[in-house]
Amino acid sequence: MRYSNIVHRLDGSGYHAWDVHGKGKAMLAQGADVILLTIGDPDFATPQPIVETAVASLRQGRTHYTPSLGEMPLRTAIAAHHQQISGQATAKENVAVVAGAQCGLYVAAMAVLQAGDEVILPEPVYSTYEPVVGATGATPVYVKLRPELGFHFDPAEMAAAITPRTRAILINTPHNPTGAMLHPEELEALADLSTRHDLWVISDEVYSNFIYTRPHLSPANIPALAERSIVISSLSKSHAMTGWRLGWTIAPAELTEHIGNLLAAMLFGQPPFIQDAALHALTHELDEAKAMGDAYRARRDLVCAALNAAGDVGCYEPEGGMYVLVDVRKTGMSSYDFGHALLEAEQVALLPGEAFGTTLAGYLRLSLTVPEATLAEACQRIQRFAASLAR
Ligand SMILES: Cc1ncc(COP(=O)(O)O)c(C=O)c1O
Repeated sequence: MRYSNIVHRLDGSGYHAWDVHGKGKAMLAQGADVILLTIGDPDFATPQPIVETAVASLRQGRTHYTPSLGEMPLRTAIAAHHQQISGQATAKENVAVVAGAQCGLYVAAMAVLQAGDEVILPEPVYSTYEPVVGATGATPVYVKLRPELGFHFDPAEMAAAITPRTRAILINTPHNPTGAMLHPEELEALADLSTRHDLWVISDEVYSNFIYTRPHLSPANIPALAERSIVISSLSKSHAMTGWRLGWTIAPAELTEHIGNLLAAMLFGQPPFIQDAALHALTHELDEAKAMGDAYRARRDLVCAALNAAGDVGCYEPEGGMYVLVDVRKTGMSSYDFGHALLEAEQVALLPGEAFGTTLAGYLRLSLTVPEATLAEACQRIQRFAASLAR
Protein backbone atom coordinates (compact mmCIF):
# COMPACT_ATOMS: atom_id res chain seq x y z
CA MET A 1 0.00 0.00 0.00
CA ARG A 2 1.07 3.60 -0.54
CA TYR A 3 1.20 6.23 2.17
CA SER A 4 1.45 9.98 2.11
CA ASN A 5 4.85 11.61 2.53
CA ILE A 6 3.85 12.78 6.00
CA VAL A 7 4.23 9.32 7.53
CA HIS A 8 7.98 9.43 6.84
CA ARG A 9 8.35 12.73 8.65
CA LEU A 10 6.77 11.75 11.97
CA ASP A 11 9.84 10.21 13.60
CA GLY A 12 11.77 12.29 16.12
CA SER A 13 15.52 11.82 15.73
CA GLY A 14 15.94 11.01 19.45
CA TYR A 15 13.21 8.40 19.80
CA HIS A 16 15.72 5.55 20.21
CA ALA A 17 16.80 6.97 23.60
CA TRP A 18 13.34 6.13 24.95
CA ASP A 19 14.23 2.44 24.95
CA VAL A 20 15.63 2.87 28.49
CA HIS A 21 12.08 3.79 29.51
CA GLY A 22 10.65 0.73 27.75
CA LYS A 23 13.21 -1.55 29.37
CA GLY A 24 12.62 -0.02 32.82
CA LYS A 25 8.88 -0.49 32.48
CA ALA A 26 9.30 -4.10 31.40
CA MET A 27 11.57 -4.82 34.39
CA LEU A 28 9.02 -3.19 36.69
CA ALA A 29 6.25 -5.36 35.24
CA GLN A 30 8.37 -8.42 36.05
CA GLY A 31 8.55 -7.33 39.69
CA ALA A 32 11.99 -5.63 39.76
CA ASP A 33 12.49 -2.77 42.24
CA VAL A 34 12.84 -0.17 39.47
CA ILE A 35 12.58 3.56 40.14
CA LEU A 36 11.19 4.94 36.90
CA LEU A 37 12.18 8.59 36.43
CA THR A 38 11.91 8.73 32.66
CA ILE A 39 8.48 10.16 31.99
CA GLY A 40 6.93 13.56 32.73
CA ASP A 41 3.57 12.46 34.09
CA PRO A 42 2.79 13.94 37.53
CA ASP A 43 2.39 11.39 40.35
CA PHE A 44 -0.35 13.55 41.93
CA ALA A 45 -4.05 12.84 41.51
CA THR A 46 -6.12 15.45 39.71
CA PRO A 47 -7.53 17.68 42.47
CA GLN A 48 -10.80 16.25 43.77
CA PRO A 49 -12.97 19.35 43.12
CA ILE A 50 -12.05 19.14 39.42
CA VAL A 51 -12.98 15.46 39.30
CA GLU A 52 -16.27 16.14 41.10
CA THR A 53 -17.11 18.91 38.64
CA ALA A 54 -16.62 16.53 35.71
CA VAL A 55 -18.73 13.82 37.36
CA ALA A 56 -21.57 16.25 38.12
CA SER A 57 -21.37 17.58 34.59
CA LEU A 58 -21.63 14.06 33.13
CA ARG A 59 -24.63 13.38 35.34
CA GLN A 60 -26.26 16.57 34.05
CA GLY A 61 -25.98 15.21 30.53
CA ARG A 62 -23.16 17.44 29.33
CA THR A 63 -22.19 14.82 26.79
CA HIS A 64 -22.92 16.38 23.40
CA TYR A 65 -21.11 18.36 20.71
CA THR A 66 -19.49 21.68 21.54
CA PRO A 67 -18.16 24.53 19.34
CA SER A 68 -14.84 23.73 17.66
CA LEU A 69 -12.99 26.60 19.34
CA GLY A 70 -14.38 25.74 22.79
CA GLU A 71 -17.32 26.90 24.87
CA MET A 72 -17.56 30.63 25.58
CA PRO A 73 -17.28 30.48 29.40
CA LEU A 74 -14.07 28.46 29.20
CA ARG A 75 -12.57 30.59 26.43
CA THR A 76 -13.38 33.68 28.49
CA ALA A 77 -11.79 32.16 31.61
CA ILE A 78 -8.66 31.15 29.69
CA ALA A 79 -8.41 34.68 28.26
CA ALA A 80 -8.68 36.18 31.76
CA HIS A 81 -6.11 33.69 33.13
CA HIS A 82 -3.65 34.47 30.32
CA GLN A 83 -4.17 38.23 30.69
CA GLN A 84 -3.54 37.99 34.41
CA ILE A 85 -0.24 36.11 34.08
CA SER A 86 1.11 37.87 30.97
CA GLY A 87 -0.37 41.36 31.04
CA GLN A 88 -1.37 40.86 27.39
CA ALA A 89 -4.88 42.18 26.65
CA THR A 90 -6.66 38.95 25.74
CA ALA A 91 -10.26 38.25 24.70
CA LYS A 92 -12.09 35.00 24.05
CA GLU A 93 -11.57 35.62 20.30
CA ASN A 94 -7.87 34.95 20.91
CA VAL A 95 -8.46 31.58 22.57
CA ALA A 96 -8.82 28.11 21.07
CA VAL A 97 -9.49 25.17 23.40
CA VAL A 98 -7.48 22.17 22.23
CA ALA A 99 -6.79 18.58 23.27
CA GLY A 100 -3.71 19.37 25.35
CA ALA A 101 -0.70 21.50 24.52
CA GLN A 102 0.44 18.81 22.09
CA CYS A 103 -2.65 19.39 19.95
CA GLY A 104 -2.05 23.15 20.34
CA LEU A 105 1.45 22.75 18.95
CA TYR A 106 0.10 20.77 16.02
CA VAL A 107 -2.65 23.20 15.04
CA ALA A 108 -0.37 26.20 15.52
CA ALA A 109 2.28 24.65 13.29
CA MET A 110 -0.28 23.59 10.68
CA ALA A 111 -1.75 27.08 10.56
CA VAL A 112 1.52 28.97 9.99
CA LEU A 113 4.00 26.53 8.37
CA GLN A 114 4.16 24.65 5.08
CA ALA A 115 6.59 22.82 2.81
CA GLY A 116 9.49 25.04 1.83
CA ASP A 117 9.42 27.00 5.09
CA GLU A 118 12.05 26.85 7.79
CA VAL A 119 11.32 26.95 11.50
CA ILE A 120 13.92 27.57 14.17
CA LEU A 121 14.01 25.03 16.97
CA PRO A 122 16.29 25.68 19.93
CA GLU A 123 18.12 22.40 20.71
CA PRO A 124 17.93 20.40 23.03
CA VAL A 125 14.41 20.08 21.73
CA TYR A 126 11.32 18.42 23.22
CA SER A 127 10.80 15.13 21.39
CA THR A 128 7.50 15.87 19.64
CA TYR A 129 8.53 19.16 18.02
CA GLU A 130 10.35 17.49 15.12
CA PRO A 131 7.35 15.33 14.10
CA VAL A 132 5.00 18.31 14.46
CA VAL A 133 7.19 20.39 12.16
CA GLY A 134 7.65 17.34 9.91
CA ALA A 135 3.89 17.00 9.49
CA THR A 136 3.71 20.52 8.05
CA GLY A 137 6.49 19.79 5.55
CA ALA A 138 8.61 22.65 6.93
CA THR A 139 12.29 22.13 7.71
CA PRO A 140 13.64 22.46 11.27
CA VAL A 141 16.75 24.59 11.71
CA TYR A 142 18.47 24.06 15.06
CA VAL A 143 19.99 26.75 17.24
CA LYS A 144 21.93 25.49 20.27
CA LEU A 145 20.88 26.17 23.81
CA ARG A 146 24.40 26.24 25.17
CA PRO A 147 25.25 24.50 28.48
CA GLU A 148 27.89 27.20 29.12
CA LEU A 149 25.13 29.85 28.78
CA GLY A 150 22.86 28.00 31.24
CA PHE A 151 21.05 26.42 28.28
CA HIS A 152 20.10 29.79 26.81
CA PHE A 153 20.59 30.74 23.18
CA ASP A 154 23.10 33.22 21.88
CA PRO A 155 21.07 35.98 20.11
CA ALA A 156 23.78 36.30 17.44
CA GLU A 157 23.48 32.58 16.62
CA MET A 158 19.71 32.88 16.47
CA ALA A 159 20.03 35.84 14.08
CA ALA A 160 22.50 33.94 11.90
CA ALA A 161 20.08 31.01 11.55
CA ILE A 162 17.37 33.15 9.96
CA THR A 163 17.00 32.95 6.18
CA PRO A 164 14.39 34.34 3.78
CA ARG A 165 12.52 31.02 4.23
CA THR A 166 12.24 31.26 8.01
CA ARG A 167 8.62 31.57 9.11
CA ALA A 168 8.67 30.86 12.84
CA ILE A 169 10.69 30.30 16.00
CA LEU A 170 9.37 27.63 18.36
CA ILE A 171 10.40 28.10 21.98
CA ASN A 172 9.61 26.33 25.23
CA THR A 173 9.81 28.11 28.56
CA PRO A 174 10.35 26.77 31.22
CA HIS A 175 12.21 24.33 29.03
CA ASN A 176 11.89 20.58 28.90
CA PRO A 177 14.35 19.04 29.65
CA THR A 178 16.85 21.69 30.82
CA GLY A 179 14.54 23.76 33.05
CA ALA A 180 15.98 26.98 31.57
CA MET A 181 13.56 29.89 31.44
CA LEU A 182 13.40 32.61 28.80
CA HIS A 183 15.84 35.35 29.75
CA PRO A 184 15.13 39.12 29.26
CA GLU A 185 17.93 39.27 26.68
CA GLU A 186 16.44 36.36 24.76
CA LEU A 187 13.01 37.97 24.88
CA GLU A 188 14.43 41.20 23.42
CA ALA A 189 16.21 39.24 20.70
CA LEU A 190 12.99 37.40 19.82
CA ALA A 191 11.10 40.71 19.62
CA ASP A 192 13.76 42.27 17.43
CA LEU A 193 14.24 39.29 15.08
CA SER A 194 10.59 38.38 14.70
CA THR A 195 9.49 41.92 13.86
CA ARG A 196 12.44 42.50 11.52
CA HIS A 197 11.93 39.23 9.63
CA ASP A 198 8.14 38.98 9.98
CA LEU A 199 8.20 35.70 11.94
CA TRP A 200 5.74 33.92 14.19
CA VAL A 201 6.92 33.00 17.67
CA ILE A 202 5.32 29.83 19.01
CA SER A 203 5.79 29.60 22.76
CA ASP A 204 5.08 26.38 24.65
CA GLU A 205 4.55 27.32 28.29
CA VAL A 206 3.13 24.13 29.85
CA TYR A 207 5.53 24.36 32.83
CA SER A 208 4.99 28.03 33.67
CA ASN A 209 3.38 27.18 37.03
CA PHE A 210 6.57 25.56 38.29
CA ILE A 211 9.25 28.22 38.59
CA TYR A 212 12.09 28.37 41.15
CA THR A 213 14.37 31.35 40.68
CA ARG A 214 12.70 34.27 38.87
CA PRO A 215 9.40 35.24 37.27
CA HIS A 216 8.17 33.52 34.13
CA LEU A 217 8.70 35.52 30.92
CA SER A 218 6.66 35.04 27.77
CA PRO A 219 6.56 36.62 24.30
CA ALA A 220 3.11 37.75 25.44
CA ASN A 221 4.83 40.22 27.80
CA ILE A 222 5.94 42.49 24.93
CA PRO A 223 3.04 43.95 22.89
CA ALA A 224 4.94 44.03 19.56
CA LEU A 225 5.87 40.39 20.03
CA ALA A 226 2.49 39.33 21.42
CA GLU A 227 0.75 40.23 18.15
CA ARG A 228 2.92 37.71 16.28
CA SER A 229 2.96 35.06 19.01
CA ILE A 230 1.06 31.87 19.66
CA VAL A 231 1.22 30.95 23.32
CA ILE A 232 0.37 27.36 24.12
CA SER A 233 -0.42 25.92 27.52
CA SER A 234 -2.55 23.32 29.27
CA LEU A 235 -3.77 21.94 32.56
CA SER A 236 -1.73 18.74 32.13
CA LYS A 237 1.12 19.67 34.44
CA SER A 238 -0.29 22.56 36.50
CA HIS A 239 -3.27 20.49 37.71
CA ALA A 240 -1.99 16.91 37.15
CA MET A 241 -4.47 16.43 34.30
CA THR A 242 -2.36 14.80 31.60
CA GLY A 243 -5.06 12.28 30.66
CA TRP A 244 -7.85 14.85 30.39
CA ARG A 245 -6.27 16.41 27.30
CA LEU A 246 -7.20 20.01 27.89
CA GLY A 247 -5.07 22.87 26.66
CA TRP A 248 -5.29 26.10 24.70
CA THR A 249 -3.69 28.42 22.19
CA ILE A 250 -3.62 32.20 22.58
CA ALA A 251 -3.18 33.90 19.21
CA PRO A 252 -4.40 36.86 17.14
CA ALA A 253 -8.15 36.57 16.42
CA GLU A 254 -7.69 35.93 12.69
CA LEU A 255 -5.25 33.09 13.29
CA THR A 256 -7.57 31.70 15.98
CA GLU A 257 -10.35 31.54 13.35
CA HIS A 258 -8.06 29.46 11.12
CA ILE A 259 -7.21 27.22 14.06
CA GLY A 260 -10.95 26.82 14.64
CA ASN A 261 -11.38 25.50 11.09
CA LEU A 262 -8.53 23.06 11.63
CA LEU A 263 -10.09 21.93 14.91
CA ALA A 264 -13.41 21.40 13.14
CA ALA A 265 -11.61 19.17 10.68
CA MET A 266 -9.76 17.27 13.43
CA LEU A 267 -11.69 17.20 16.68
CA PHE A 268 -15.12 18.77 16.36
CA GLY A 269 -14.90 20.31 19.84
CA GLN A 270 -13.66 19.15 23.22
CA PRO A 271 -15.92 17.12 25.56
CA PRO A 272 -18.22 19.49 27.48
CA PHE A 273 -17.75 17.76 30.87
CA ILE A 274 -13.99 18.22 30.53
CA GLN A 275 -14.47 21.89 29.65
CA ASP A 276 -16.62 22.27 32.78
CA ALA A 277 -13.87 20.68 34.87
CA ALA A 278 -11.28 22.95 33.25
CA LEU A 279 -13.43 25.99 33.96
CA HIS A 280 -13.48 24.99 37.62
CA ALA A 281 -9.69 24.54 37.64
CA LEU A 282 -9.10 27.98 36.14
CA THR A 283 -11.58 29.90 38.28
CA HIS A 284 -10.68 28.48 41.72
CA GLU A 285 -7.54 28.74 43.84
CA LEU A 286 -7.00 25.06 44.58
CA ASP A 287 -4.80 24.11 47.53
CA GLU A 288 -3.88 20.85 45.79
CA ALA A 289 -2.49 22.72 42.77
CA LYS A 290 -0.38 24.98 44.97
CA ALA A 291 0.85 21.96 46.95
CA MET A 292 2.10 20.36 43.73
CA GLY A 293 4.25 23.40 42.96
CA ASP A 294 5.67 23.33 46.49
CA ALA A 295 6.39 19.61 46.19
CA TYR A 296 8.28 19.98 42.89
CA ARG A 297 10.39 22.73 44.42
CA ALA A 298 11.25 20.57 47.46
CA ARG A 299 12.04 17.59 45.21
CA ARG A 300 14.22 19.74 42.95
CA ASP A 301 16.17 21.06 45.93
CA LEU A 302 16.63 17.56 47.36
CA VAL A 303 17.90 16.07 44.08
CA CYS A 304 20.24 18.97 43.31
CA ALA A 305 21.74 18.88 46.82
CA ALA A 306 22.25 15.12 46.69
CA LEU A 307 23.76 15.02 43.20
CA ASN A 308 25.92 18.11 43.58
CA ALA A 309 27.45 16.55 46.69
CA ALA A 310 28.21 13.34 44.79
CA GLY A 311 31.46 14.31 43.04
CA ASP A 312 31.30 11.65 40.35
CA VAL A 313 28.14 13.02 38.77
CA GLY A 314 26.59 16.47 39.01
CA CYS A 315 23.37 18.14 38.14
CA TYR A 316 22.18 21.22 36.34
CA GLU A 317 19.86 23.21 38.59
CA PRO A 318 16.62 23.95 36.73
CA GLU A 319 15.08 27.43 36.86
CA GLY A 320 11.65 25.90 36.35
CA GLY A 321 9.78 22.79 35.25
CA MET A 322 9.53 19.20 36.47
CA TYR A 323 12.96 17.82 35.61
CA VAL A 324 16.60 17.86 36.69
CA LEU A 325 19.44 17.17 34.27
CA VAL A 326 21.98 14.73 35.70
CA ASP A 327 25.43 15.59 34.40
CA VAL A 328 27.51 12.45 33.74
CA ARG A 329 30.17 14.03 31.53
CA LYS A 330 32.92 13.22 34.06
CA THR A 331 32.29 9.49 33.64
CA GLY A 332 33.27 9.69 29.96
CA MET A 333 30.22 7.59 29.05
CA SER A 334 27.52 8.62 26.62
CA SER A 335 24.26 9.29 28.42
CA TYR A 336 22.68 6.47 26.44
CA ASP A 337 25.24 3.94 27.72
CA PHE A 338 25.08 5.41 31.22
CA GLY A 339 21.27 5.10 31.20
CA HIS A 340 21.31 1.42 30.25
CA ALA A 341 24.15 0.53 32.62
CA LEU A 342 22.53 2.38 35.54
CA LEU A 343 19.24 0.59 34.95
CA GLU A 344 20.93 -2.80 34.93
CA ALA A 345 23.19 -2.15 37.93
CA GLU A 346 20.88 -0.12 40.20
CA GLN A 347 17.38 -0.30 38.74
CA VAL A 348 17.01 3.44 38.22
CA ALA A 349 15.63 4.55 34.85
CA LEU A 350 16.64 8.04 33.64
CA LEU A 351 16.03 9.36 30.14
CA PRO A 352 19.24 9.74 28.10
CA GLY A 353 19.78 13.30 26.89
CA GLU A 354 20.15 12.05 23.32
CA ALA A 355 16.33 11.96 23.29
CA PHE A 356 16.52 15.76 22.98
CA GLY A 357 19.45 16.22 20.58
CA THR A 358 23.21 16.02 20.49
CA THR A 359 23.86 18.85 22.98
CA LEU A 360 22.77 16.63 25.86
CA ALA A 361 25.02 13.68 25.07
CA GLY A 362 26.52 13.88 28.58
CA TYR A 363 23.26 14.41 30.51
CA LEU A 364 20.21 12.39 31.52
CA ARG A 365 16.79 13.75 32.42
CA LEU A 366 15.42 12.88 35.84
CA SER A 367 11.68 13.45 36.34
CA LEU A 368 10.62 14.85 39.69
CA THR A 369 7.47 12.75 39.56
CA VAL A 370 7.96 10.52 42.60
CA PRO A 371 7.89 11.36 46.34
CA GLU A 372 10.96 12.77 48.09
CA ALA A 373 11.87 9.48 49.82
CA THR A 374 11.95 7.65 46.47
CA LEU A 375 14.02 10.44 44.93
CA ALA A 376 16.49 10.27 47.84
CA GLU A 377 16.83 6.51 47.28
CA ALA A 378 17.28 7.05 43.52
CA CYS A 379 20.03 9.63 44.14
CA GLN A 380 21.86 7.19 46.44
CA ARG A 381 21.72 4.51 43.79
CA ILE A 382 22.96 6.93 41.10
CA GLN A 383 25.85 8.01 43.34
CA ARG A 384 26.76 4.38 44.16
CA PHE A 385 26.76 3.52 40.46
CA ALA A 386 28.88 6.56 39.53
CA ALA A 387 31.34 5.78 42.32
CA SER A 388 31.63 2.19 41.08
CA LEU A 389 32.49 3.54 37.62
CA ALA A 390 35.14 5.83 39.08
CA ARG A 391 36.74 2.85 40.87
C1 LIG B 1 7.40 20.84 26.57
C2 LIG B 1 6.12 20.09 26.49
N1 LIG B 1 5.18 20.53 25.66
C3 LIG B 1 4.00 19.88 25.54
C4 LIG B 1 3.75 18.74 26.26
C5 LIG B 1 2.43 18.07 26.08
O1 LIG B 1 1.53 18.58 27.02
P1 LIG B 1 -0.01 18.23 26.99
O2 LIG B 1 -0.23 17.07 27.90
O3 LIG B 1 -0.70 19.45 27.46
O4 LIG B 1 -0.36 17.90 25.58
C6 LIG B 1 4.71 18.24 27.14
C7 LIG B 1 4.47 17.00 27.89
O5 LIG B 1 5.31 16.45 28.55
C8 LIG B 1 5.93 18.94 27.26
O6 LIG B 1 6.88 18.52 28.07
